[in-house]
Amino acid sequence: PAFTDDIDAILALKRERNALILAHNYQTPEIFHCVADIVGDSLALARRAMSTEADVIVLAGVHFMAETAKLLNPDKTVLIPDLGAGCSLADSITASDVRLMRQRYPGVPVVTYVNTSAAVKAESDICCTSGNALAVVESLGAPRVIMLPDEYLAQNIAAQTKIEIIAWKGHCEVHERFTPADIRELREAHPGVTVLAHPECPPEVVAEADFSGSTAAMSDYVGKRKPSRVVLMTECSMSDNVAVDHPDVEFIRPCNLCPHMKRITLANIRVALEQNRHAVTVDAEIAGRARRAVERMLAV
Ligand code: 13P
Ligand code: SF4
Repeated sequence: PAFTDDIDAILALKRERNALILAHNYQTPEIFHCVADIVGDSLALARRAMSTEADVIVLAGVHFMAETAKLLNPDKTVLIPDLGAGCSLADSITASDVRLMRQRYPGVPVVTYVNTSAAVKAESDICCTSGNALAVVESLGAPRVIMLPDEYLAQNIAAQTKIEIIAWKGHCEVHERFTPADIRELREAHPGVTVLAHPECPPEVVAEADFSGSTAAMSDYVGKRKPSRVVLMTECSMSDNVAVDHPDVEFIRPCNLCPHMKRITLANIRVALEQNRHAVTVDAEIAGRARRAVERMLAV
């Protein structure tokens, strides 16, 4: 009953406050399927944040996603239900690290993954997500590009382009734990299984997979190709959410949990809407420069 109480209360609060709930693909199924208005990967959430008529945006995801929504909607209230919902990639780099990289490689453009703070975005030329990283890197017309902070995403993109990529040492704490041996064991235990891996996985994991793409690209792959058995090498809730729409597909579920994504619950989404917390703010000077990098990405 507590579960349905929270859902009913959230649906009523959304109407009262003209609020929109944006939920990332890694949110739990009751958030993803029962209260979210928009679901998707980081790119879809940023795009949809740009074109909303709502007064309030609740970001069911992690802090950098709420900050990105705020950059694109400076006059709206953007709420994150738990301020501790961080990201190991965002924590791996600071604005002064980016300035040092620029000094070390003068004139080389800086592409920053959206999984970063607004202060880091503000130091970069353009942002990218896992869904558009290759297109963004190739849009710059430069022979060399600095790509921060995910080392594995940078290496996975480097394998698909002639452009030289200079990487940083950040890793996603969820995806770095997958190994090629995991995939080999899965193939042995589940003959014929199709393996999809997120590009935040190490390159040797991506090499063993049948397909690699953003969370939205993995979801599309399942919808279009309808594999009979599939494993998604990514965060645990992703399979739960996609499986609901594909009862005919068998999902094998070894997965790694993102403790940051899991901080968001129905209970704290309800409190966020009731008490208007936690409102995300970004320093105006940083916001102007960070917004430019995000808008440049969205224009690619
Ligand atoms: P995408 O949904 O953009 O693929 O990102 C995955 C991720 O780890 C977000 O935190
Ligand atoms: Fe960050 Fe990885 Fe969690 Fe996504 S899954 S929020 S990249 S730690």
